[in-house]
Amino acid sequence: MDSSLDLDYRPRLGEGADAGVAIVGCGGIMNYAHLPAYAAHGLNLVGCFDVNREAAEKTAQDFAIPRVYDSLDDLARDSAAVIADVAVPPWEQFAVAGRLIGAGKHLLCQKPLSNVFAEAVRMVEAAEGAGVRLAVNQQFRWSPAIRAAHTLIERGWIGQPTEAGIEESMLSPWHLWPWLASSPRLEILYHSIHYLDGMRFLLGEPEWVTSRHARHPDRRGVEGETKTITVLDYESGLQALVAVNHSNHSDDVYGRVRFLGTEGVIAGTMGLSYDYPDGREDTLGWSNSARYPEHRFEAKLEGKWIPDAFIGPMASLMAAVAGGGEPDTSGRDNLNTLRIVEAAYLSAQQNRSVRPAEIG
Ligand SMILES: NC(=O)c1ccc[n+]([C@@H]2O[C@H](COP(=O)([O-])OP(=O)(O)OC[C@H]3O[C@@H](n4cnc5c(N)ncnc54)[C@H](O)[C@@H]3O)[C@@H](O)[C@H]2O)c1
Repeated sequence: MDSSLDLDYRPRLGEGADAGVAIVGCGGIMNYAHLPAYAAHGLNLVGCFDVNREAAEKTAQDFAIPRVYDSLDDLARDSAAVIADVAVPPWEQFAVAGRLIGAGKHLLCQKPLSNVFAEAVRMVEAAEGAGVRLAVNQQFRWSPAIRAAHTLIERGWIGQPTEAGIEESMLSPWHLWPWLASSPRLEILYHSIHYLDGMRFLLGEPEWVTSRHARHPDRRGVEGETKTITVLDYESGLQALVAVNHSNHSDDVYGRVRFLGTEGVIAGTMGLSYDYPDGREDTLGWSNSARYPEHRFEAKLEGKWIPDAFIGPMASLMAAVAGGGEPDTSGRDNLNTLRIVEAAYLSAQQNRSVRPAEIG
């Protein structure tokens, strides 16, 4: 095969993959996404903790984790725990991360790193001050279609990007996240944050953020916004659209990605949009009018966002811990994703375009 057609999209473990990993928070996402991915890659899980001991014991049993910690302090004292993988509700993460940073643990934190921007900054500074690595679990970057699109864009298949879109319309299973229902900020902070981070990963930092937020008549007990449209404007003239509707009751649900450039186009689907959290495989096709006129390539992508992409941020963190670099989704990098998130809320609230640099 022509090596330029190898999309190099599958996340893999590298250096430092034998580091001891301790789990904090044994709830939904840990059990149906993190741990299946870690089990598939044979990670060295040393223990788990949850304020709900029953939850921790069940997780330990399901994934053959040798130790259930009595407390966060108990975990903090365990020298076998080099990395702590945290999946607690966002308002709990600041205190949990602070305690573990103080104990010298490297951290994989959840998105959003915090629902309060200033607290996210303090967490990043605390980790940097203590010399520990802090990564954020923005694993959408490792989902098959996005990773493959990144490879294609990097190799110049579409020339200079001019237009980008991530558009999704589906029926979200809010019952999986009861604590989200009362959150006054919902769609951008907890969901589109992945797509905004994905746009940064693929296309770099935007100049302007313009965002409109709405609620569907069918609120299903949810407080925050459930329909959003966000436009990122770039200095080059590139415009990127992230449009998500969580209340599509029809049989026409979709999750589409599209990246158009001066020489070609990449277009595909995000399998997870079609049946969360099981989903189906992503699809991706691309063309380049200069290199292969009148020819369209289709990739057969293997793996899914859940659970396969979840090894990506952990692998990157492990390599950084072992090699001394920074993880791809470091806390410092993630502050720019949070700036776009906060800019989107400010934009919607004040009916204007906002520069991410206005935040923090
Ligand atoms: N990266 C992703 O794609 C993704 C997807 C879903 C959820 N999340 C994030 O993961 C986090 C957890 O979400 P979830 O859906 O699994 O929630 P969940 O409610 O199912 O699980 C949270 C667990 O944390 C435990 N917990 C609460 N406070 C704790 C503390 N101080 N110390 C230890 N354990 C504590 C709870 O008992 C519960 O078992 C949230 O921050 C959410 O935003 C991320």
